[in-house]
Amino acid sequence: RLRTAILISGRGSNMDALIAAARAPDYPAEVALVLSNRPDAPGLSRAKAMGMATAAVDHKIYAGREEFERSLQLLLEAHRIEFLCLAGFMRMLTPWFVSRWSGRMLNIHPSLLPAYRGLDTHERALKDGVKIHGCTAHFVVPQLDEGPIVAQAAVRVADDDTPESLAARVLQEEHRIYPLALRLVASGRVRVEGNRVLGALRDAGQGMRA
Ligand code: GAR
Repeated sequence: RLRTAILISGRGSNMDALIAAARAPDYPAEVALVLSNRPDAPGLSRAKAMGMATAAVDHKIYAGREEFERSLQLLLEAHRIEFLCLAGFMRMLTPWFVSRWSGRMLNIHPSLLPAYRGLDTHERALKDGVKIHGCTAHFVVPQLDEGPIVAQAAVRVADDDTPESLAARVLQEEHRIYPLALRLVASGRVRVEGNRVLGALRDAGQGMRA
């Protein structure tokens, strides 16, 4: 099983979904480490309580991004990590780090990329009046919120949605597609050609299955 680290900064609900999925005996990845850049992340204490291996690398004590990332890298090597899942990890990563994990790092983003890169995706989607919103699991490349898309799920926008209500429905879909995306990639059922992931799933509704 692929030794995977989950990188978080906060709540860690996607972390929970990945940990739960990886408990299945036939799941091709195991969660070998939960790593946070915030020592006080709620997800980190939850992971600890579940008996997971955890670590915190507080970005604030490092002079720069590369020093911080060198620390991350050493820790990942010490735990013999082979694959990374960013799950609400709110630090930008340098090309130095990203290139080291090229093809071996996934992210979950709360929009249908390439729409709504960056922050406040739900608020911006509501402002634009879009009728369909969603989430994307994708490989990480140096450009923020770009990279080959492994899985997406769409969510209908309701007239009375608030950023919070929309976020909650999108989050449910994140919890569904992120474990699916990791399963597909870890089992070698997809291949990347340029910016495209072939063999991946597209989802026009709630029905995507691995
Ligand atoms: C999730 O909605 C995730 O998609 C988003 O942060 C939230 C983390 O929640 N990520 C980003 O916005 C990345 N740019 P979680 O900590 O409960 O998984």
